[in-house]
Amino acid sequence: MIVAIDGPAATGKSTSAKLVAQKLGFTYLDTGAMYRCVTLSVLEQNFDLNDKKSLIFLLDSMEIKFKKSGSKTLVFLNRKDVSNDIRKTAVTSHVSAVSSIKEVRDFLVKNQRKIAKSNNCVVEGRDIGTIVFPEAEIKFFLVADMSIRAKRRQLELLKLGEKKSLDVLIKEIQKRDDLDSNRENSPLTKANDAIKVDTTNMTINSQIEYIVNRVKLITIGN
Ligand code: DC
Repeated sequence: MIVAIDGPAATGKSTSAKLVAQKLGFTYLDTGAMYRCVTLSVLEQNFDLNDKKSLIFLLDSMEIKFKKSGSKTLVFLNRKDVSNDIRKTAVTSHVSAVSSIKEVRDFLVKNQRKIAKSNNCVVEGRDIGTIVFPEAEIKFFLVADMSIRAKRRQLELLKLGEKKSLDVLIKEIQKRDDLDSNRENSPLTKANDAIKVDTTNMTINSQIEYIVNRVKLITIGN
């Protein structure tokens, strides 16, 4: 069974998806982390994104793995723990450009489908309900007001030791929304059959409870 959770940045997708997966005993798949790993590789190697042949070579040589460690899911890129590095501003400000490249998307989508083939999964991203798993049993599309999204991002960055003003964060989030929603390949958009959840005034617990209850309703229904 696939539970798809899509939506713009900082709407509570990761936190909800991770805990919903835990509650349901499902595998949690953070597809944004995969796009972030490719971006980190591209930056570390000072890579020219127009060189498609080398890009395909780079993608083929990449190994992205997720490992559970207590309540956390760690992300490994070529066996190195990059869980914190991929959340830093350097990666965040380039990830939309990297994720708009068709070759990158084709490669990662293939991997995402492979991971989810033999597992019950909660899959989080931008195009999960529309492109990666249009047949997902249940789909959610999370939204939230910009001010609360910026506050959430600010807290997340503080934990990584980065301080940023809300004004700067609002501009950065708006820019990423624009790029992710207007790109040619698999733009961020709500699937027609996705349930829209506005998390602006919801606590993490209420988000999780809402999603888990909706999932249970369909599993009982079948
Ligand atoms: O969810 P996130 O902020 O970690 O995602 C990082 C970027 O990756 C996001 O700006 C767009 C891209 N992304 C995507 O294009 N498709 C996905 N399924 C997931 C993320």
